[in-house]
Amino acid sequence: MSLSTRSLESETGQLIMLTDQTETRLLQGQVAHYQRLSEMGRMMASWHIRSVRRCRRLCYTRVILLSRVCRQISRLSLLAKLNHGWKIWSIRCAICWCLPGETRLDDRLTLAQLFRDIEDALDVPLAAWDADCECINAVPDLQLQCNKEALLGALMNLVENSLQATGKGAELSIEASVLKERLCLMVADNGPGMDQEQCRKVLEPFYSTKSHGTGLGLAVAQVVAKAHHGEFVLVSELGKGTRAAFLLPYEKDANVSS
Ligand SMILES: Nc1ncnc2c1ncn2[C@@H]1O[C@H](COP(=O)(O)OP(=O)(O)OP(=O)(O)O)[C@@H](O)[C@H]1O
Ligand SMILES: [Mg+2]
Repeated sequence: MSLSTRSLESETGQLIMLTDQTETRLLQGQVAHYQRLSEMGRMMASWHIRSVRRCRRLCYTRVILLSRVCRQISRLSLLAKLNHGWKIWSIRCAICWCLPGETRLDDRLTLAQLFRDIEDALDVPLAAWDADCECINAVPDLQLQCNKEALLGALMNLVENSLQATGKGAELSIEASVLKERLCLMVADNGPGMDQEQCRKVLEPFYSTKSHGTGLGLAVAQVVAKAHHGEFVLVSELGKGTRAAFLLPYEKDANVSS
């Protein structure tokens, strides 16, 4: 209730007015409630706008990052083509071959054909290291169902490893033979070799003793071997050298006996 007094103009005395404020108070309460709601709405809207902006900024930053990564990859690919083709190739392979459904053994070729490609690929690295590589193909007519790019890339990484470990004037050999009913494709060097513990470590992905090594070469070799339903074997002896080999199954009916 509110109380007010008013004087009467012509008469003596006062007019006392009692007003019931219940409705007014209710209305005021509702107005205040709506004001608070509208204030909250404004706050939420501005927060939402800020979130959208922040999100847009984040997306933008990610797009920039992604484009930088892409630029870097294409720069690396260019470098790879010039110097370390097999390196980027290895990473690509590691990614592709690890993806389910990417294991495609679409190439059917004889070992003679594979060795021609190996010899072509050897030209540049051997010249760069002033090294020598003996290619011994004991089973030129043996046919292999494989992924030529993957196998060749993995073999070239083994060659590069041998050259880097041995240094200038390295003497390597690449040999194809049949061993216990499996094709054995082996790269051997006369480098410093490794002890048993090192041999175990180097097969782990990302393990590298090189300042610019990815440590993926031997990991990829294992994945490639597995994708060909075969096995990758590394045998090394300190001071004597290293032998790295793919042991792969082949279709006996379609091949000449070894
Ligand atoms: N033939 C070899 N003789 C001696 N050490 C070797 C030989 N091959 C590999 N290694 C050792 O194994 C490590 C791993 O080899 P891997 O090919 O996986 O990666 P990386 O050669 O270091 O890197 P990237 O292949 O990217 O150049 C090498 O850093 C090296 O220390
Ligand atoms: Mg390597």
